[in-house]
This record gives sequence, structure tokens and C-alpha cells, in this order.
Amino acid sequence: MDDHSPAAGGPDDGRTAVADLRLENRVNPLGIDRLRPRFSWKLHADRRNIRQSAYRIVVGIEGLFPETAVWDSGKIESDQSVFVPYEGPPLQSRVRYCWRVKVWDERGIESLWSECAWWEMGLLSPADWTAQWIEPEQVNASEEQLQPAPLLRREFTVRETVKKARIYATARGLYQLELNGSKVGDQELAPEFSSYENCLQYQTYDVTKLVRVGANALGAMLGDGWHAGRIGLTGDCCSYGDRLSLLLQLEIETVGGSVMTIPSDEQFRCSFGEIVYSDLFIGEMTDARLRQDGWSEPGFDDSNWAQAAPVPFGYDHLTAQYAEPVRAVAAIRPLRIVESPKGETIIDLGQNIAGRMRFRASGPAGTRIVLEHGEILDEQGNFRNNIIGKNKDQKDIFILRGDASEEFEPRFTYHGFRYVKITGYPGVLDPNDFTGIVIGSDLRPSGSFECSDSRINRLQANIVWSQRSNMVSIPTDCPQREKAGWLGDIQAFAPTSCFNMEMYAFLSGWLRNVRFEQLKDGRIPSVVPFTEGFKRFLKQPYGYSSAGWGDAIVILPWVLYRQYGDLQVLRDNYEAMKKWLEFIRSEAPEEVWEPAGLHFGDWLIPSLSMGDGEKAIDMRKSAYLTAELVSTCFYAHSARLLADIAELLGKADDALHYRRLNRRIRQAFAKRYVREDGLLTAHFQGIYVLALHMDMLPDRLRDKAVDHLVALIRGNGWKLDTGFVSVPYLLDVLCDNDRQPVAYRLLLQTECPSWLYAVEKGATTIWEAWQAILPDGRATNVSYNHYALGCVGDWLYRRLGGIDKLEPGYRHILIDPDTKSGFSFAKASYESVYGTICSAWERNGDMIRLSVEIPANTRATVVLPDGQRIVGSGRHEFHYNL
Ligand code: BGC
Repeated sequence: MDDHSPAAGGPDDGRTAVADLRLENRVNPLGIDRLRPRFSWKLHADRRNIRQSAYRIVVGIEGLFPETAVWDSGKIESDQSVFVPYEGPPLQSRVRYCWRVKVWDERGIESLWSECAWWEMGLLSPADWTAQWIEPEQVNASEEQLQPAPLLRREFTVRETVKKARIYATARGLYQLELNGSKVGDQELAPEFSSYENCLQYQTYDVTKLVRVGANALGAMLGDGWHAGRIGLTGDCCSYGDRLSLLLQLEIETVGGSVMTIPSDEQFRCSFGEIVYSDLFIGEMTDARLRQDGWSEPGFDDSNWAQAAPVPFGYDHLTAQYAEPVRAVAAIRPLRIVESPKGETIIDLGQNIAGRMRFRASGPAGTRIVLEHGEILDEQGNFRNNIIGKNKDQKDIFILRGDASEEFEPRFTYHGFRYVKITGYPGVLDPNDFTGIVIGSDLRPSGSFECSDSRINRLQANIVWSQRSNMVSIPTDCPQREKAGWLGDIQAFAPTSCFNMEMYAFLSGWLRNVRFEQLKDGRIPSVVPFTEGFKRFLKQPYGYSSAGWGDAIVILPWVLYRQYGDLQVLRDNYEAMKKWLEFIRSEAPEEVWEPAGLHFGDWLIPSLSMGDGEKAIDMRKSAYLTAELVSTCFYAHSARLLADIAELLGKADDALHYRRLNRRIRQAFAKRYVREDGLLTAHFQGIYVLALHMDMLPDRLRDKAVDHLVALIRGNGWKLDTGFVSVPYLLDVLCDNDRQPVAYRLLLQTECPSWLYAVEKGATTIWEAWQAILPDGRATNVSYNHYALGCVGDWLYRRLGGIDKLEPGYRHILIDPDTKSGFSFAKASYESVYGTICSAWERNGDMIRLSVEIPANTRATVVLPDGQRIVGSGRHEFHYNL
């Protein structure tokens, strides 16, 4: 059981280095509006037990730094190396600040300065905007009519070499900019989706290299997007308006020091281009014959273009983009091209994605090529549109202009698909002419998990693909049917998502929208942004809000705090959490929550939703049968979390209040729903899981409840029967109650419903429903790309891989892999805010070798058969008998 690390004990005088500088957990962010942003950094050295004893941060203005500083923290005796707030004089709009940091390690030895990092402030006040909102000529969007994408352009002259040029821009609708014929930035679907009435993000672009001395032209193309296009489950259009407009400010600073601003105003001219229509759900139509060559270059004749009109929208709710933008994050070559029994030509990407196709074609002018996107083939191998309903076409149309070779890719739409049915393609299809472009928020990968069972590795890959497909500006449920920010889904998936990718900026930014959308009475809508279509849909019988969905306002900040160690996210959401709890109190005078509206309950319990034929998935039954108990469990759970949060924020009275409330709710639950033999009045696996995990049962009945849970699983042929909100806790509850073998049986089960059932059916993403493809091979019309049921990923990292946290941010790590699981190896690694954590074990006969990597400035408790070891940073290796 010895620690055989190569670095063990050897003296080493190497200095500690500081690297990986982050601001608001982002690398060199351009255009932020946090007035007191926070700094994080990581320590490195070739020795163990590195700890920080002090730090010093210096901030200055680009060009004057490091000679002059605007803020020097001085040497601060502290071991804090993440989320250290800026404490200097007020930060100025537009200024690029540089910063660097040095540390003193546990020996008191001073490091060298880190490399410089930077961030740049955006426009901090409405007074910084001189641009006016402008509208191009356009057809008003409506149910009946799809409108062409307007173009806007303007020329200007620059007389001196450019030192710095920035564009600040946003739109009501989507926009893409071009400067002198080149695309500006690599963002897609800007300004992205948010609760537009309250918060509209603007983007900042560094265009220094695109502006030239002499004549320049600036162009913008607008698309309907979430503003005017069809969105959500109901496929409604015009959720935020029926007209598109643009706000843009180009600011140029020359080497001679002069400043020139090109604001959007009536000097912009407008027309239409090749996009006949664009819609996030229907798709996009491009007629290349309509392209106006050179429209975003100087010298283009726009004399027959109309004049753009200023419109009086203000700047009040403008917000700097708060997370990594949506980009094209990967490109996939088709796996194969097949001809279906019906004679269709189908491109198979081999992977279900969120994105769109880029392709080349050549043929006579007017040739019409149609691409239809779907996630599955039917039992015979024909193309099948698995998403039916209003405006769910997912169809892109391209009309050739007749050039020798033409390249196409839609601009203002994306789809959820693996298969593309293509019609009208001239000539022979060459797979090399087609690429699947994966679209998503460009979140940094932060974890990896691998083990000796390739099916589990495929499951992990499917989880990551569903995450990538559904982190598109907001956390969505699915990329084809709804593209909507359902709170229950992200609530269930958040811990897993945080292992796989850096979610801090993305989720904490989206939570602002949740706060904006909270109703006056405290209700948190089940979907955010809460568009008109959803308001109508969720009015009756749902009443807008549901337990397990609304509770995301408490659970998500808690998950983020635990993962990243930042208290601010708790502070930011605290009042909203309290209001949510007060709302529940108003509906639960006797502490059991019998909601006024229908809740989703343990959504999609397989035995209650498994049906037959086309209408296989019955969505509502689990809601009817479980809502009341689920609601009361989540009420108690949120009350307990809020008590802990209040304590952390120093609000002792609140903490006491919510702790007492939690106790009363649990007592009321036990009285109303628990029988003396430990049976619950809603006798479903998921309800036992929630009751056990959320501590709803009197101690004397816990074992009995565990027995009932296991009996239900056994009675179901060792298969799970849990819905959306209980499944995250299922395997943990079994392991925490000494039923590990049952947990592994469920994990390795291959009959439906189970995780590996989908894997063995060839899934490349996580399905919305366990039985999306029925055991007899028939496919149902549900989504094949919903991350919620992928929440088991968190358990894989923690239990099988063995990485868990004892303190927020993994300041104190727990390494406790389940080496008795029957696997021959597992390896988990996670890039925490302090650095890389790795836990890798392998079994050789009865011998286990466990290799561990612990980042500087943290420590870990390693659980071994003969007890626990506390280790500091560095690599450690342990050998022991099983
Ligand atoms: C979505 C879910 C969502 C649910 C609400 C569905 O249409 O796709 O994932 O959470 O509605 O219960």
C-alpha cells in the first residue's frame, strides 16, 4: 500500500511557476462588463505539496504595462488562487487591461511573474453608445410568411494607419458582419439567445486587421433567429417582434491618436441577398443567383439600395456577451452515403450532432438541392423525420447559380441530425464534398473518463455529444424539436456537464435570465427564456412552474459553487432562491406541496410511458402519478440547500429558518406519504430514490425503503424505472446504502430500459426516452439528443473514476475509486480551477495500482483498504491488494 511516487520526498528547489491565468474563469476575454472581475491562476512545480502562502496581482493598461500599474494588490498573505476580486480604481469602457501575478509558495519562496494575460472592457454605460438602432427594409415576419434576410452596408474612409479597431454590435434577430469582404469574427448565431426583453447580449470584435487605410465597407446580414423566427415546442414565430434591426458601433483609433466612430445610422443602405429565408426550425433557403457580389466591399454600387431607418430602441438592457460564443466547433466527414430501399440518397454522418452541412456542388443555374435532416432511419433503412409538428422541417434548400464550383452552408440555422436526405444534387455525390459542421457554445473540455468496458466508453462519448449538441447559447433540451432552455433537464445534468466542460461562465450567465424571468410571486418558469409560445403552452394545466424544474434556481448555483468554489454565484441568486421558496410556501401551507398546477413529476418513467407504435411515448402519466411526492421532496431539498447557502453567506437567521422548514417538510412528508412498513404511497423506484437521497424518511424506515427500492428493481428484471428527476441519484442511493452490486447491474444492464440498451442499439447521443427505439427495432418520434439521462456521467467520474470533492472547487479532493467494481481499469481526469486532477487505477489479478495527480494548492484524501491518506499536490502511486 505504499506510495511509490517517483517524486516522493526528494528535495527540490525549483521555483513555483504561475500559469493558466483566467478572468471570470475565461481566458483573455474580449468585451466584458463585470465591474469587479475576479482573477484565477494555477501553480506548477516539479515537486510535491505546493501551496501558496501569498500572492501579488498587478494590473495595468495595455501599452503602459508593466511599467505603470493601475492597481497593485501588494503582497497579500493568502492561499486564495481562484476568484480573487479586482480591487483597483473603476475600470473604464473599451480599455484593454493586462495583468500578471506572482506567488509565494509554502516555503515563502517568491515565484517569477507569470506571463501577462489581458481582458478588455466592453461598453459599460448607455452613454457609450452613439449608434442608433436601424431597420433595413423588410417584409414583416408572420405565421404565413418567411422573409428574405436583409443586407445593410456603408462605406467609410480611413486616412491613417489603424492602431486599434473594435466593433460592438447586436441585433434584434441574428446578424453576421463583413468588413471589406471578410467575415467579422468566428461567432455563429450572434447575438445568441437570452431573455431579450431584459437582457440582450452585444458582441465585441477586434477588427484591427480588417480595417485598411483608404476606402472600407462594412456589411451586415440579418436573420430571423429567436427574435422573429419560429421557436420552441409550439413553433410560434415573432416571439420578440416581427421586424429585424441592428445596432453597431465601429470605433477606430489611428496611430496618430485620432478616433473615428462609424455608428449604425441612416447612412446605412439596405437591400436583400441570396438568403430567401432563414429560420432556426424550418431551415434556410439560399438562392445563389440572388447574391450581390462585392456587397460588403468598397466600390460596390448601392445606388439602388434603400436607406435604413433609425428606430427608437434604447441601450438599457444591453449586456456584454457573458460566455464563450457559439462557434463551429468541429467538422465531420460523412461515414457513408446510402441509397435507401425507397431509393432516397442519404448521407450518414455516423454521429448525431447539432449543426448543419457544408457542401460543394456544380451544376446548371437554377438547380435546386434540398437537404432534409433527421436523427434516425426507419426499420427498413429509409429516411425518417422523427420530429413532427408545426414548423419542424429541418430542411435547407440551395439553388445553384451555375458557377464552376459553388460552396454552401446555411448561416442562420442549425439542426439536430445524423442523416441527411439529399435531393436534386447534380452529378455523382462525392462524400469529400460534404462536411457536417458541429455548432455549439465553444466550451472548453475539462474532463475525460475511460474504463475497461468499451460500451461504457461509448456511453461517455454519447453524453459528451449530447452536451455539445445542447449547449448552444443556452442549455437546451434538444437541438431539433424545441431548442429550449428547460430547467429540469439542466438541473439533472449540471454535475455531469461540469465534469466534461467548463460551464461556469455559460451557466452563471444563463442564470441571469432565469432571475429575469422569475415571476413576481416567485415562480420560476420551467423554461427560460420564457417565450410567448411556452407561456401559452405551460399556462394550463401546468401553471408555468414545476418542482424539479423551478428548483434549478437553487440547485444550479449550488452545483456551480461546489464545482468552482465561487461564492458569488450563490450571492447573485440568493434572493431569487428565497422568492422561489416563498412561492412554494404559499402553495404548501401544511408543508406538503400539492401544487395548484400540474407538475412534471418524475418525468418519463419508462413503465408509465412505454407504449406501442407511433404514439409510443406517453409523456403525462408519470406526471399525474408522482407529481405530489416529487414536489414535496424537492421542496425539502431546496429548503435544506438554502439553509446551507444562507450559512455560507453569513445569514444565520435565514439558515435557521430554512433548516426548520426542512425539518417540518420532512415530518409532513413522512406523515402523509410513508407507511409504517416503509412503503411510499407512490410506489415507484424514483420516488424511493428521491425520498432516500433527500432524507425524507424517518431513520427507522430507511432500510425498509431501500429494500422496497431493490425489490422494485428486482421485480423489473434488474432494470431501472426512474424518470428525469430521480435518475441522477439512483446509483448513488444504491451505493450509499450498501447495494453496490445492484448499482452495477443497472449500469451494465443491456435490456430496455438501460443506458447500455441505447448503446447497443447504436445510439451516438443520449435519447430523450429510454425506449426511443423499441426492443423490436421500431423507432418512435421522440428526440434522440437529450442530455438529461446522461446524468450518470457524474457518477462514473466520481465512483468508478474516483474523483470527488470534500471542499468546494476541489480544494480538498476525495480520491475513492471503486476498484471492486469488476472493471479492470478506469481513468478519470478533471481540470479543476486549481489544475489537473487525475485518478487512474488498474487491476492485475488481485493487485491494484492507483495513480493519482493532485494540483498545487490543494490536497486530497485517498481512500485505501487500510484507511485514508492525506496527500498534497503532485503525483502519487499506490499499490494494494483488492
Ligand atoms: C422537453 C423536456 C422537458 C419537458 C418538460 C419536453 O418537451 O423536451 O426535456 O423537460 O418537456 O417536462
